[in-house]
Amino acid sequence: MRTDHFIRFERVDSVEEAERGLLARLHGELLRIDAVRPDVVRLQLSRGGSFDPKPTYAVCVDPLASGPEGPVTWRAEPGEDAWRLVTDELVVTLWLDPFRVDVHRTDGSVVLESVPDPEGRYWTYATLNDAWTTRRRIGRDDAIYGLGEKGGHHNRRGRDFTMWNTDVLNEHATAEFRAGLDAADPRSDMSSVEFDPYYVTIPFFYQRDAETGSAVGSFVDNGYRGEYEFSHDDEYRVTFHGGQWTEYLFAGPSMASILERYTWLTGRATLPPIWALGYQQCRWHAYTQADVERIAKRYRDDEFPCDGIWLDIDYMDGYRVFTWDSSRFPDPAGMLKGLSNQGFRTISIVDPGVKHDPGYAVYDDGLEQDVFCRTEGGDTYIGQVWPGNTAFPDFATPEARSWWGALNATHVESGLAGIWNDMNEPATGEIAPQAMLFDKGRAKHERYHNQYALLMAMGTIEGLKAARPEARTFVLSRAGFAGIQRYAANWMGDNQARWDHLWVSMPMACGFGLSGQPFVGADIGGFQGDTNPELFLRWMQMGTLTPFCRNHSEIDNIDQYPWSFGPEVHDLAREAVRLRYRLMPYIYSAFVRATETGEPVQRPLVLDHQHDPAVVDLDDEYLFGRDLLVAPVTEQGQTSRTVYLPEGDWYDWHTGELHPGGQRITVETPLERVPLFARAGAAIPMWTEAPASTDGYRPESVELHVFDPVVDGRWESVLVEDDGLTVTHDEPGAEAQRLTTTVVVTRSGGEVSVEHATSGPGYAGHARTRFDVVRHAA
Ligand code: GLC
Repeated sequence: MRTDHFIRFERVDSVEEAERGLLARLHGELLRIDAVRPDVVRLQLSRGGSFDPKPTYAVCVDPLASGPEGPVTWRAEPGEDAWRLVTDELVVTLWLDPFRVDVHRTDGSVVLESVPDPEGRYWTYATLNDAWTTRRRIGRDDAIYGLGEKGGHHNRRGRDFTMWNTDVLNEHATAEFRAGLDAADPRSDMSSVEFDPYYVTIPFFYQRDAETGSAVGSFVDNGYRGEYEFSHDDEYRVTFHGGQWTEYLFAGPSMASILERYTWLTGRATLPPIWALGYQQCRWHAYTQADVERIAKRYRDDEFPCDGIWLDIDYMDGYRVFTWDSSRFPDPAGMLKGLSNQGFRTISIVDPGVKHDPGYAVYDDGLEQDVFCRTEGGDTYIGQVWPGNTAFPDFATPEARSWWGALNATHVESGLAGIWNDMNEPATGEIAPQAMLFDKGRAKHERYHNQYALLMAMGTIEGLKAARPEARTFVLSRAGFAGIQRYAANWMGDNQARWDHLWVSMPMACGFGLSGQPFVGADIGGFQGDTNPELFLRWMQMGTLTPFCRNHSEIDNIDQYPWSFGPEVHDLAREAVRLRYRLMPYIYSAFVRATETGEPVQRPLVLDHQHDPAVVDLDDEYLFGRDLLVAPVTEQGQTSRTVYLPEGDWYDWHTGELHPGGQRITVETPLERVPLFARAGAAIPMWTEAPASTDGYRPESVELHVFDPVVDGRWESVLVEDDGLTVTHDEPGAEAQRLTTTVVVTRSGGEVSVEHATSGPGYAGHARTRFDVVRHAA
């Protein structure tokens, strides 16, 4: 019998060789160490003597099936003090007494070194608070990246984080967190850029060794509440409150290879429809149909490119999901048709909460189908969201997901193009969510809380695919868990119309990007509070160079349309949006790459320049795709800023001036533009003009902007073209309905040559007959 609050896992009782590695017995539990890929191992500790085969919905492959390299070779080496599991790249040492695990690369460098707590315990499970805790060594100057959506600086070293999906502006939801902070802690201020937890949980991070620049990665496949403590001097601690310990360790040493492995496990983003990469107009406001039509017309009259019109909660009848307020929207299908004729797609919000309202069809049907979450006593759990008392679909069951999918399928029949999922942490208002049980009352809330949005997105996608099997899907989600990239884009929730919130959206996007989610964006202009002309313009200039580009603001704020701040702001904002549209072939190709390799679209410099110490803490600029460097204006009245240019040579996009990399330069930031640089050697595909929308736009030519290299070498850029809308690009192998053009720029003995070759069967509607090469030379 266990008399202690802690299971100490002190000694390993026995070890044997198993199917893919080692199986050990200790303290009545089992430990498995499996070789997953040559540079990836999985550690699993059982609970009650058995392993949970599917701890969460994050991992979407069989980790023990072969990876891209083919079957993994490994061997087990028994020993007196320790057993070892050896792959071509890793050595895992399982120490027997005291029990601990260390992992090294085959060259001896450290991937993981366990450290004991003051009582000599390396790995504990505390029955007192249902918590697994492990401690590992970390160098004082090592950097930490990842963990998905987190506030504050991109390098997470020196701070602690909680993994618990939270509606951050709900004081009740964050009260417990803030109560634990002293008043001097900046995070106790709700307007801070550093509070925690956030809407999304991704328990995956990188540790970059300060001395060697090498990185390792860890993904704990556990959806329960977790804590990552990176504030300690020489160790970090990871705790999960519940479930089992299932962890994937990545040897790197390159961050890009870790990300490739992580997204192999948890999946890659599906290619979005091209219109989702256009500019999006959103606002929380009680619009009428006529208002929406007027706004759309204004965009067209102003020749301001726009692809998406968004409808927030007030289109519904009393916030009842899957309904329309017929007094404000007398003819939704007619309105959607009219918008579509002008090249707009319309996206509507769908929150998970179903109004508790007997007589409302969705509520009645949910009760009848038994798809709502229950409480322990078997009643329907009721929380508080926009409609007041609200029931929550039990997305942990396939029945509830299908039910939800079918509702979405019917909803989009009106002509909606995509779905916006909000409040899916799930947000429950003043009522704590813990009484909400899942899986027909069988699972504690904590097991699925962090996965709720992921499961909701799965159901939504199921419905959208059923409704339009040929079309690509688009879902935008506020919350999420590891793997959310397979189903949805994420926006960063309710930010504020402040300069520091503009800044923080960069490290946030980069954290997402390094954590497998490439399709991200912040509310442009700022959601909460009134924006101002300068902030709006600067945010537009940055936001048009981020993956997801949507203007959004809160109800009762001042108007935040491009035309709300006078002609100068309007015209400059339009210039920024037009640049995005001209860059669409480049942006689109960057998304294609993300779907194939997991590589983010918006990326911190450290990803591509891992060994450059100057970029370790750099988080006020980023790369957009592989070849564009963006250094936004982040302060009011800023007329110049410094920009660090990494290795290579860089062309100032606006002036054409060439700057060698590896230095910090100062550039002017007049209101017309934000610093933007192109990598020498790159060929950036662009449309010759900016269309009003991507809809039906099929130009005859695409420009290839070649930035002449100034040193000898070879550079490759890839352009992918397809119909942008259907899943025909995804046919297997050579059948994929697309065109891939590889542009090779070579400089040899001072001579620059440009060659391009296109392959693929093409696609319906293809109209391009030529490329126009545009050379940029110093
Ligand atoms: C939440 C969302 C916000 C939306 C509002 C009303 O605050 O984060 O984007 O506008 O709810 O639906």
